[in-house]
Amino acid sequence: MLSNRVKNIAPSATFAIEAKTKQLRSEGKDIVNFGLGEPDFNTPESIKQAAKKAIDSNFTRYTPVGGIPELKKAIADKFRRENSIDYDVSEILVSCGGKHSLYNIAMVILDKGDEAILPVPFWVSYQEIIKLAEAKPVFCRTDKKFKLTADFVEEKVTKKTKLLILNSPNNPSGATIEPDEIRKIAELAIEHKFYVLSDEIYEHFVYNGKHTSIASLNEEIKKLTFTCNAVSKAYAMTGWRIGYVAGSKDIIKAMENLQSNATSNPSSISQYAALEALNGSQDSVTQMVKAFDERRKFIHKRLNEIKGISCIEPEGAFYAFPDISKTNMKSMEFASRLLDEALVAVVPGIAFGSDSHARLSYAASMHDIEKGLNRIEQWLKNKI
Ligand SMILES: Cc1ncc(COP(=O)(O)O)c(C=O)c1O
Repeated sequence: MLSNRVKNIAPSATFAIEAKTKQLRSEGKDIVNFGLGEPDFNTPESIKQAAKKAIDSNFTRYTPVGGIPELKKAIADKFRRENSIDYDVSEILVSCGGKHSLYNIAMVILDKGDEAILPVPFWVSYQEIIKLAEAKPVFCRTDKKFKLTADFVEEKVTKKTKLLILNSPNNPSGATIEPDEIRKIAELAIEHKFYVLSDEIYEHFVYNGKHTSIASLNEEIKKLTFTCNAVSKAYAMTGWRIGYVAGSKDIIKAMENLQSNATSNPSSISQYAALEALNGSQDSVTQMVKAFDERRKFIHKRLNEIKGISCIEPEGAFYAFPDISKTNMKSMEFASRLLDEALVAVVPGIAFGSDSHARLSYAASMHDIEKGLNRIEQWLKNKI
């Protein structure tokens, strides 16, 4: 009885692992969780205060569908300050989390028969969102370090290409795209006239060097780009559900129209919290990134010490994506046995388009990271 649209949509693998982890914990099992991609830090105090103030001031009613004017202005200021992109408030739409922004984009620009180029490995939901829009995901390779180049993209461009998805730093690999390649990819998009969805949700989590926003390069590529972001990761606000996108005015208007019929505005209270996140002190972001950097170095070193596992150095985000092929297990078997037999939760790489990898989120305390890696090492000892 289900619609054809949803019949082929897979549930989010990360949430499935999280559900099983919660179930095992409720049975009293001591699980080390490398599964879900959310910071283990609490939302900063000033942001929580802003939300409490919003409630006390009765900002609890419908707001304009695409966000309160103050928040849109804060987002425009943020783009100018951090990304060197000049967006007008009419080019910005606030939605119910980064995922919702991505969904809106796919829904308003993709049609049946359109192709969307998706570099592998990719974050789980891109593929399903493209399929929901009845378009075709076209997988694009990356190099041994999961780096995307313009040449790899060009191999996949056809007359049907409508969209390219960029995600730098990348979930699950942590790879970033080199600024030179971003420039060449922009030239390709302009030449072949396809849109670019640049998901920059991990932009602050770049450990060496600086993030480059493709829309900052020139006016032509800016018109073809949707720059997407959210407060979820940078401000430890995953549950608040505020994401945003900037792009050309007409398409933003179409997204607003869609949103007005689907969800209306994102939570009024969360919008005031996001306003404080963007306008307030950024110290908490700096502190969190510093902590992640220490964990990143540790997990990378430690994973490479484990027999049967090798891992490239993640350059960004908060994930490691080790190669597990020498364990002679496919990623699903690896993840499911690891959870059952050693009480460590990881996400199978197949969910991200690679069956010879697993994703470990290092959004966990150093103590847990150490404990989890010791368990993996012990568990693999008799297997290889
Ligand atoms: C690459 C990427 N984009 C978007 C999102 C969605 O974030 P949000 O929680 O704001 O919907 C995630 C969340 O894991 C992500 O990893």
